[in-house]
Amino acid sequence: MTFDLATASNHLASTSQEWWRSAVIYQVYPRSFSDSNGDGIGDLPGITARLDSLATLGIDAVWLSPFMRSPQKDAGYDVSDYKDVDPLFGNLADFDAMVARAHELGLRILVDLVPNHTSDQHRWFQDALIEIEGSAERDFYHFKDGRGLNGELPPNNWLSLFGGPAWTRITNPDGTAGQWYLHLFDSSQPDLNWANPKVQEAFEDILKFWLDRGVDGFRVDQPHAMAKAEGLPDHPDVERAGAGFIEGEASPPMWFQEEVHPIFRKWRKILDSYDGDRAMCGEAYVLPLTFMAKWVRPDEFNQTFNFRFLNSDWNAKTLFDNINESFEAFDGVGAPSTWVLNNHDVLRHASRFGGLNIKPTDSDGVGPNDPQPDRELGLRRARGATLMMLALPGSSYLYQGEELGLPEHTTLAPEFRQDPTFARTNGARVGRDGCRVPLPWEAGVGAANGFNQTGKSWLPQPDIYAEYSRDQQDGVEGSTLELYKHALKVRKELALGEGSFEWVNEFVGEKVLGFRNGDILVVHNFGHAPIELPAGQIIASSLHQMTNGHPLVADQTVWLRLVVA
Ligand code: GLC
Ligand code: CA
Repeated sequence: MTFDLATASNHLASTSQEWWRSAVIYQVYPRSFSDSNGDGIGDLPGITARLDSLATLGIDAVWLSPFMRSPQKDAGYDVSDYKDVDPLFGNLADFDAMVARAHELGLRILVDLVPNHTSDQHRWFQDALIEIEGSAERDFYHFKDGRGLNGELPPNNWLSLFGGPAWTRITNPDGTAGQWYLHLFDSSQPDLNWANPKVQEAFEDILKFWLDRGVDGFRVDQPHAMAKAEGLPDHPDVERAGAGFIEGEASPPMWFQEEVHPIFRKWRKILDSYDGDRAMCGEAYVLPLTFMAKWVRPDEFNQTFNFRFLNSDWNAKTLFDNINESFEAFDGVGAPSTWVLNNHDVLRHASRFGGLNIKPTDSDGVGPNDPQPDRELGLRRARGATLMMLALPGSSYLYQGEELGLPEHTTLAPEFRQDPTFARTNGARVGRDGCRVPLPWEAGVGAANGFNQTGKSWLPQPDIYAEYSRDQQDGVEGSTLELYKHALKVRKELALGEGSFEWVNEFVGEKVLGFRNGDILVVHNFGHAPIELPAGQIIASSLHQMTNGHPLVADQTVWLRLVVA
């Protein structure tokens, strides 16, 4: 195992003032954050009522997963009206009230935009179904004739990311079998045809609609999927045929086609034409990071999610390499690196690091019949990981509930599963529901610990969630919530997000990683033996029993202000 310090990355402190370069952005998953009317599904008024708890946490911005009108086949990532709020979550007036309250509290709001596909209930798709082949309406999507004698075979070999073929055949209004339409996700999520200028115009209009309502920007879903290779050719690898890409494979026909870039340049111009400093973060699942960096060139996205970092196993060598790759790639184009350990699609880090060696990419869930993660170990490591992440210069993403140290719901019974992945794979993949369970706020208030007053909950919480409730941690020394609050406060005071980065040679190896951000030394112990630290003042520790002068124990991260001679 080599840790090549000679070629490792350094990063200079940022001189640009844009907020998004160093922001901590908190992802709210609306249906699971807070439920104001007791129907078991979180909503916008519920979020508004609890925004002050996010201001106290010390984050800068909130990204909301989709709340737009949707039949909810993929938890809102299937939009049927981009300019309205789904009645499940409230209405546009509730949205405006939420934005106003957030701005009052100094929090920015980013909304999730889903441009690769619509819901099959969207008017555009419904119109396409009743119109004839080759019509302008059909041209909004990818409709093609099937192969085989009677068109009974799908037009190409592409697979859905949620399992099964990426094509569904329609029935014509007269009852005969018709063309096929493309869906890289569920059959209820037809892919839009981004080569059609009308689709492009429609989305520019949608961007303006939300910008006019005061949003500070967007998180853009699946932007790397939007353009498809001309003629929709077969994927060369028949086995995989596009169900996700393999790093290094020659340009897969459905991912990261060059034609997407001019679209985002246009979007960036639109955002920049508004007052304030609006920003967009693309979920560009493109690796290696030098490739992803093309998406954050100065006139494209402001940020992309650092999936390399998210996919790191918790070991020193992987993190060393991934952090180097991050600075090298993003510094190369003048963009901030982002850092992220959790979102609504991956196993929560407090469970991922619980000794089972699960990568977010290996599995999208753990079910009752799988080996169960070690909760205590997972939380110790998760706290260490977060404290390390929050000292890295750039912008960090947090996902609701991680500030409580919430574990994944790993014993959710099959009858509650809602993620389409579960049904489409006949349960072979349990799916992502385990990280999407409603938050516990006040222990013992209803069956869902204060998520609402009725105890109804679209996914049941596991019993153990009561002990993680926010009220059990608020103001309690050593709690995970207080650790996050403290780290976010110190991060801001010391401007660590805008800071510099360099590895500290004596703390780089298989058992330890250490780096400096200005005069703050950040060290994590990946081994078992305690590690002596240099003289200095501990300003944050992932395990609260740490006091000055004590060695660093297993799984612990500290921030230490070095004594400058
Ligand atoms: C993104 C979302 C995920 C959704 C998919 C399809 O990956 O994060 O939740 O299922 O896109 O829209
Ligand atoms: Ca509700």
